[in-house]
Order: sequence, then structure tokens, then C-alpha cells
Amino acid sequence: MKILMVCLGNICRSPLAEGILKSKLPQGVFSVDSAGTSNYHIGELPDKRSIEVAKKNNLDITYQRGRQFSLDDFDKFDLIYAMDTSNYQNIIKLARNPEDIKKVKRILDEIPDYQLTDVPDPYYGGQNGFENVFEMLDLACQNIAERILLNHP
Ligand code: 4NP
Repeated sequence: MKILMVCLGNICRSPLAEGILKSKLPQGVFSVDSAGTSNYHIGELPDKRSIEVAKKNNLDITYQRGRQFSLDDFDKFDLIYAMDTSNYQNIIKLARNPEDIKKVKRILDEIPDYQLTDVPDPYYGGQNGFENVFEMLDLACQNIAERILLNHP
């Protein structure tokens, strides 16, 4: 089972989603990766503020480097989670067939009756925005991990 987290830059939101989901799944059986729809931050470390909020929650995400989403990710991954509707649409535009489209979901749709559909882009804000993003991604990833473990124990 392979899961990909996708945002725009692959330095703020999706590196957190990758780190959080990884921490909730047994290693080896599952693989979790992340990518950005843009090419803005290829090869870069996650944003300092994402590294900081992850560290506060006992997660190390400094092994990650930015990369751009590519067409073969549709073949490599079983599930592709977009952080917001714009990321979702950018991925869907690249889909080659209905199977590709079926793999793509918005991550906050994994939280029943949640007040938001999009993880806010925290890039132009302060550390608070990153704490807020961490909390909602933690909720979503908890639900994702529980369902995956029920279906693929
Ligand atoms: P991310 O945040 O998509 O959560 O990684 C952003 C990072 C960089 C930019 C935008 C959003 N940027 O415009 O460079």
C-alpha cells in the first residue's frame, strides 16, 4: 500500500502529512511519500516552520526533500491525497484515465463533517498557521491510518 501526499510547494503541508501518516502506520508494509504540483522547491528541505512544528510533536521530517509530482506517481501510488482543491484540480488535470482519477482525494474529506475542505496554505503566515495545519492533518491522518489498517491489517 503506497500513499502520496501532495501540495503546491512540497515544503509546508505535504511534508507534514507524510511525516504524520508515516508515524501512524507500521513501517515496511506501507510507504508514504510527498510531492508538490509546482517545481518551485525541488531538492529543498521542508520549510523551517514545518520542521519546527513536527519536532514539537516528536516527528523528524528533515530527511525529506522537495520534489515535483510526476505522471508515473499515478502508477506508483494507490492513494493520492491533495491538501486543497487547487492541488486536487492540478493533479486531476494530469490524469490519463479514470483509474488515475479514482486514486485522488482531498485529505480533509477524510474528516467527517469537518468545517474546512482545504488545508490552508500557511506559507505567507506565521508559526500559528503551521500549528493549525498540523492539528488538522493529524486528525485526517488518524482516520486514514485507522481505515487502512482495518482494510490491510
Ligand atoms: P506548500 O506551501 O504548498 O504547503 O508547500 C507553499 C510553499 C511555497 C509556495 C506556496 C505554497 N510558494 O509559492 O513558493
